[in-house]
Amino acid sequence: MERPENCIITIFGASGDLTRRKLVPGLFNLYMRKMLPERFAVFGVSRSDWTDQVFRDSMAEGIRTFAAKENRDKTDDINEFIHHLYYHSVGTSGTGSYEPIKAHLRELDDQYRAAGNYVYYLSTPPSAFGPITRSLAEVGLNTETEESGWRRLIVEKPFGYDLESARKLNAVLHETFQEEQIYRIDHYLGKETVQNMLVFRFANGIFEPLWNRNYVERVEITSAESIGVGSRGGYYDGSGALRDMFQNHLLQVIGMVGMESPSSFSATSVRNETVKVFKSLRRYNPEDVATNVVRGQYTASTVRGEPVRGYRQEEGVPDDSMTETYVGLKFYLDNWRWAKVPFYVRTGKRLPTRVTEVVIDFKKTPHRLFGAQKKGIYDPNKLIIRIQPDEGILMKFNMKLPGGGFQIKTVNMDFHYSDLSDVYVPQAYERLLLDCMLGDATLYARGDAVEACWDFVKPIQDAWANDKSMKMFGYPAGTWGPKEATDLIEGPDQDWRFPCKNLASDGEYCEL
Ligand SMILES: NC(=O)c1ccc[n+]([C@@H]2O[C@H](COP(=O)([O-])OP(=O)(O)OC[C@H]3O[C@@H](n4cnc5c(N)ncnc54)[C@H](OP(=O)(O)O)[C@@H]3O)[C@@H](O)[C@H]2O)c1
Repeated sequence: MERPENCIITIFGASGDLTRRKLVPGLFNLYMRKMLPERFAVFGVSRSDWTDQVFRDSMAEGIRTFAAKENRDKTDDINEFIHHLYYHSVGTSGTGSYEPIKAHLRELDDQYRAAGNYVYYLSTPPSAFGPITRSLAEVGLNTETEESGWRRLIVEKPFGYDLESARKLNAVLHETFQEEQIYRIDHYLGKETVQNMLVFRFANGIFEPLWNRNYVERVEITSAESIGVGSRGGYYDGSGALRDMFQNHLLQVIGMVGMESPSSFSATSVRNETVKVFKSLRRYNPEDVATNVVRGQYTASTVRGEPVRGYRQEEGVPDDSMTETYVGLKFYLDNWRWAKVPFYVRTGKRLPTRVTEVVIDFKKTPHRLFGAQKKGIYDPNKLIIRIQPDEGILMKFNMKLPGGGFQIKTVNMDFHYSDLSDVYVPQAYERLLLDCMLGDATLYARGDAVEACWDFVKPIQDAWANDKSMKMFGYPAGTWGPKEATDLIEGPDQDWRFPCKNLASDGEYCEL
């Protein structure tokens, strides 16, 4: 694989959690794979009064804890790597001139022969994004010319909290950086199984002809977490499942499931196709929200014999909170390929297990030669793409049971990524950082895509904020969410796919 050109990776928010847990360990993994440039420096910037040594010690500890398992105890390599790390404090207010940063960068540039190639990673609270990009521009660190080298800006999530704030943020960034320089990160797109969706769809001739309204009955996406909000109650209460998971990660997955084949594998072609999907999402009218979207909050319960608090009893959560820890939705893509195919998506906390999967439910056979369908026996075909854990692909199809007559059983044909035991699976941030250094924005969200996603979510946010009759359903922790979510699914006796049973009521049985 190609190695990036020499460059300096500047991380704003260097003293923060994400830098220590994901960014620097990800860079170290790349270093161990010889995928970093031949000459590089990591330049940490934040307000804390740290020295290079404090930064290096903190990052070394982060690497030992969070890098890929096989890299954590590589003491000599860690020591060598951290000598590429430098730190700069912007002072307590964080608002001063960036001339000293420019001077520091120039020194590092000379030392590492970076030729003016800089990545700027905004790993700060979003309120600092505008001030930082403007300060960079004031000292001319934003512009790209033949002589200056390339300048790329990675922007962490959340990218806005609604359509208006996302538009404003885009406008702020576009004041100083061109769209081609901006890399909006969504770490879901860095996951191997999400990328594999593109390969699975467009490198195999046999699935694509079936991937449409003629053969697909419905599409279902589940992203479940078994944990609650833990110590992040205060943060989570300002966000909720719709913003935290659906608007960004899960809509990006829908973009990949729903898109047409791009004409090439360039960032522009791929992202043009995903934007078309987001633009074909049928917008809800205010009155549609109540019948197509179910929100819920987990309530106190017993899971695996242990008492579990309800959401409103969590630390930092007001006892009258109206923030959803679960959201289930039904919607349509108004385009030729997906006309009238329902898409069902649910995500939540304190569900029975941790799993993210895409399920393509194929239509029944047109004529039932072997008798009536029974659930679990002679089911229509399903394709299950597991994004996490145990990444892989599973196809359910029907086989004859050995013996007399024609008894049928639905069986699995299963591929697990872990079967490729000799293949290294990079962490999401590692892959995305490398792509940015290589100038490949395919797996980053484009400004128009982010706005289109917020535009779809807007009627839901408006209804929840303004319509007092919109219900918040409770669900006991350890169950699959409010029972009202079942009503979203069309057809008699139809329900969501349950990767495992409720833990609160059905014991511990849990199998993907
Ligand atoms: N942690 C995660 O797993 C995660 C996941 C997804 C997205 N994110 C996003 O990533 C960003 C960082 O998250 P985090 O968890 O690392 O937050 P954090 O621990 O609160 O870190 C924020 C960092 O920003 C620095 N900072 C604040 N104002 C600054 C300024 N004006 N200039 C330079 N640095 C400044 C802070 O350090 P000083 O106080 O020293 O300046 C600190 O290093 C947030 O936008 C968050 O939403 C985080």
